[in-house]
Amino acid sequence: MYKLSRCLVLSDICNLEKKLIFKTDRYVSRYNGSDGSDPIKTSQAKPYESISDYYAGKSVFVTGGTGFLGKVLIERLLFNCSDIESIYVLIRGKKGLKSENRLQQMLDVPVFDKLKALKPSALKKIIPIEGDITKPNLDIKTSDEQQLIDNVSVVFHSAATVRFIESFEDIMKINYEGTRKVMDLSKKMKNLQTFLYLSTSFSNANKLVIDEMIYPKPKAIDEVYSFIDNNGDNPKATEDFVNGYPNTYTLSKALCENYIEENHGTMKTIIVRPSIVAPVFKEPLPGWQDSWVAATATFSDIARGLTKVIYGGPNVICDMIPVDYVCNFIIVAGARGNPSDDVIVYNSCSSSSNPISWRRAADLYLKESLRHGKYELKPRQVELTTSKLKVDLLTLVLQTTPSFLADLWMRLKGESPKYLKMQERPVLLRDLLRFFTSTSYHIKSENSRKLIETLDERDKFLFPCDPRTIPWQTYMPLFCRGIQKYLLKPKH
Ligand SMILES: NC(=O)c1ccc[n+]([C@@H]2O[C@H](COP(=O)([O-])OP(=O)(O)OC[C@H]3O[C@@H](n4cnc5c(N)ncnc54)[C@H](OP(=O)(O)O)[C@@H]3O)[C@@H](O)[C@H]2O)c1
Repeated sequence: MYKLSRCLVLSDICNLEKKLIFKTDRYVSRYNGSDGSDPIKTSQAKPYESISDYYAGKSVFVTGGTGFLGKVLIERLLFNCSDIESIYVLIRGKKGLKSENRLQQMLDVPVFDKLKALKPSALKKIIPIEGDITKPNLDIKTSDEQQLIDNVSVVFHSAATVRFIESFEDIMKINYEGTRKVMDLSKKMKNLQTFLYLSTSFSNANKLVIDEMIYPKPKAIDEVYSFIDNNGDNPKATEDFVNGYPNTYTLSKALCENYIEENHGTMKTIIVRPSIVAPVFKEPLPGWQDSWVAATATFSDIARGLTKVIYGGPNVICDMIPVDYVCNFIIVAGARGNPSDDVIVYNSCSSSSNPISWRRAADLYLKESLRHGKYELKPRQVELTTSKLKVDLLTLVLQTTPSFLADLWMRLKGESPKYLKMQERPVLLRDLLRFFTSTSYHIKSENSRKLIETLDERDKFLFPCDPRTIPWQTYMPLFCRGIQKYLLKPKH
């Protein structure tokens, strides 16, 4: 349940962190290698091969390859790891299209333009595998399954639903059951070196300090299914059930992490947890983004004059990370592997090393938008408040009343009203994100920092993933121009 007391600024967090140290210590031994050693430190002692050398001659399996992260992951692997053998991509049939057609559609997206122009032959390395993670055995052909079993060295499991408004049942079916099925297949792979799961930094969003460790299971799985059977999607019952989690999506990701920890068996397993994933910063296409998620829609709604108030405070941190940084990080983590038998967790995020507040991010975005965007409604600097009463009042004064009057004027002119209708989605989004916009999480990233330190200068250049190198005052204008170009304008 949303609580105003969750709105903490970073200074409060330091105190809180001290109180939590005792709790965290109890799990340190679970994170460390079975001999008590630090798996990342241990592996640092060895000299590393370059990232592209690691992937040379190897094949990888990507789920969720048609998604926002998946496309950048595939593009970066093909662009920078020229000698990779094959990328098998699980693609479900959709809207009458088979996986081959969907792959062609995917390659028409501008994020692949550079690869197509400079390394066209690399595209032949993508092998579509028709399948669906909600179906038994992923519904893949026996011959395809055998190819995967014989050839794959690294699995990147990214497929999921990230829609907060999806039914709890479907979220569990895709995220939890889907992960079980992808793991079952991965366990059969003869040459598997790493199973890498894409979670989220907010899989433990019921905590304010989020360490790179797997926390105790939030719910027994039987309890979850019995809740779904008895309550369906009753909003009040669900809010009580998730008990401190922002939504059922984040809870499902926590349950996946626990499942993975308990069932990875002998698979060397890595969990990467990105925070809010934002448009490409550097390569292959600065500003590129293909879906309206979290921060993207919020900043855009503010800049288009649709949102004038959000839940939050002046110093609440917006933990975001560009999608190319996340994908480069995943590629690096896959190459470095996990020498220990325990699951390694990496938070791929910015708040602990290079924080930016929602206030500053929104202001930088708005400033750029005012230079380029031409929208119907007049935007203004967004108001941030933790008080529901103030949010409701400001919404009434700044959004609803002007929309009502504008609609009245349209009716008087004999035109169809539209402004009140335009308010519905941004208000829903603002409420769905209130947990994230009003909570300053302290997401630790020590493991990630150590991993990035293993890169030499060339690989740091080819696979930029260090959040400290994001200059927000440059990135936010680029973010804004990317949204205007790739999401607000007709798709290419
Ligand atoms: N975006 C973020 O801000 C963010 C932040 C933190 C973590 N993550 C994690 O990163 C991963 C990727 O997120 P994203 O933003 O790339 O999501 P996305 O754009 O919505 O992509 C989801 C992918 O999963 C696939 N998928 C969904 N259901 C499937 C099914 N039943 N069978 C096979 N494939 C299925 C989708 O395939 P179709 O094309 O067929 O729908 C798509 O390729 C997720 O695990 C997510 O939890 C994302």
